[in-house]
Amino acid sequence: VRMMPVHQDLAGKRVVITAGPTREALDPVRYLSNHSSGKMGYALAAACVERGASVSLVSGPVTLPIPPGVNRIDVTSATEMLAAVESQLPCDLFIGCAAVADYRAAAVSEHKLKKTDADSGLTLELVRNPDIVATIAARPDRPFTVGFAAETQSLETHAGSKLERKRLDLIVANDVSREGVGFGSDDNAVTLLWKTHDQIRHLELPLQSKAALAGAIVDHIADRLT
Ligand code: CTP
Ligand code: CA
Repeated sequence: VRMMPVHQDLAGKRVVITAGPTREALDPVRYLSNHSSGKMGYALAAACVERGASVSLVSGPVTLPIPPGVNRIDVTSATEMLAAVESQLPCDLFIGCAAVADYRAAAVSEHKLKKTDADSGLTLELVRNPDIVATIAARPDRPFTVGFAAETQSLETHAGSKLERKRLDLIVANDVSREGVGFGSDDNAVTLLWKTHDQIRHLELPLQSKAALAGAIVDHIADRLT
């Protein structure tokens, strides 16, 4: 197979992408997090670089190599992730692919939490994290803003309401209850949802590698970015 150079349709564009999980500390040795592998966000970063964009990848803790040509910024918590994204603005395109923890501990214990003698449970007090993708979409200098929706039921209804509520230009809806799809997997199948003239449109992208899927998602975005 002869490798053709990819069309440089993102040449001169600045792209910021979040990827991976966030970790929210409970004490010096414990945290709250999730199973995000970061693979989809890293594949999107690689796809954007390949098409000529300058890419900052704001990444939670993952075990993936840095895609060649990508500026990776490592963060741990959601608060740090938002600050790192804001440090990379302005940009033309923002893709919020990270599985951001919705809550963090109301107070991080300075010392390791100890069990009590009483044979009872433990109640953690949590507070809401900032919504990174909604914060970026609400800026006066908003870039073209893309979010993801990880759902286990009513995929299109929930993703459609996230599209509107967060004022996104595009949402990539991901059914994380399906076997071999999404979290941790090398493959994924998604539905793209966006609005034109107050109508929600959708496009299904069938099961394929995350690298191929990233290319298809970026094709769709590049057509609308110009
Ligand atoms: N997101 C974000 N900041 C957060 C939470 C989510 O930027 N604090 C982004 C994710 O990166 C993703 C989109 O919002 O692009 C949707 O994330 P998801 O967890 O599916 O939606 P939530 O709005 O958090 O709703 P819920 O978890 O209650 O379904
Ligand atoms: Ca969430």
